[in-house]
Amino acid sequence: MRIIIKDNADEAANFVANQIALYLIARPTLVMGLATGETMRPVYARLRQIFRSGEAPSMEFISFNLDEFISVPKSHPGSFHAYMESELFRHIHEPRVRCFIPDGMANDLPAEAGAFEAKIKHHGGLDIQLLGIGGNGHIGFNEPGTPFESRTSVVELSQHTRDAIIGFEANRPHRAITMGIGTIMEARHCLLLATGEAKATAVKTMLSQPASPTCPASALQSHADLMIVLDRKASSRLTDLQLLDIDPF
Ligand code: F6R
Repeated sequence: MRIIIKDNADEAANFVANQIALYLIARPTLVMGLATGETMRPVYARLRQIFRSGEAPSMEFISFNLDEFISVPKSHPGSFHAYMESELFRHIHEPRVRCFIPDGMANDLPAEAGAFEAKIKHHGGLDIQLLGIGGNGHIGFNEPGTPFESRTSVVELSQHTRDAIIGFEANRPHRAITMGIGTIMEARHCLLLATGEAKATAVKTMLSQPASPTCPASALQSHADLMIVLDRKASSRLTDLQLLDIDPF
């Protein structure tokens, strides 16, 4: 595990986008797991810049988003389809044939979850998974209590998570389809970005407590290739001992 601490959220996000660019340069056909949320907006802003300038290739990667709300149409501004369209997909070539997001409007949701999981396998598994973290320690929408071996499935959102959802005036979604923790753990590389004071406790719990479903992100402690990128605020509750492991890069 490598922990990288940057001075502020923009620097942390740029670092993450640059890491993704390096993976893409090494392997233009990269299979990427993507995340949404406020933390990721500056990552996509930097990635757009990278793609515009041709610093990394954007024509051949395949992507799978972590999650989508259930019963929220793709055209709704709060949907993750709409988020990805405006943050990344409308800026790249042919996203419709190679960028996959679970369909939260599917008639048969468990079948959709199973098909999504199968599609990841069909493409050879995830080379890299980008992750944020919820204030309650969730990754994807795997809420506290989710078994570490969970697969892509339909989940109930906790009140904590619902309170943090933005983009909805009313009728915030109650459920989502999310990649499971087991699915995420099979990604060959994981890259987790956390910024801001509101993530400091979750970051500390993820790193300093024994791995337990009470903090889903703590499953990552045993991931073979994990990079955690933090800003000063998100790292503010880590102790000196934990800081000793930090890569000076
Ligand atoms: C989003 C996702 C979530 C978010 C997390 C943090 O696809 O899977 O786990 O990464 O809820 O969201 P923000 O960045 O909005 O605080």
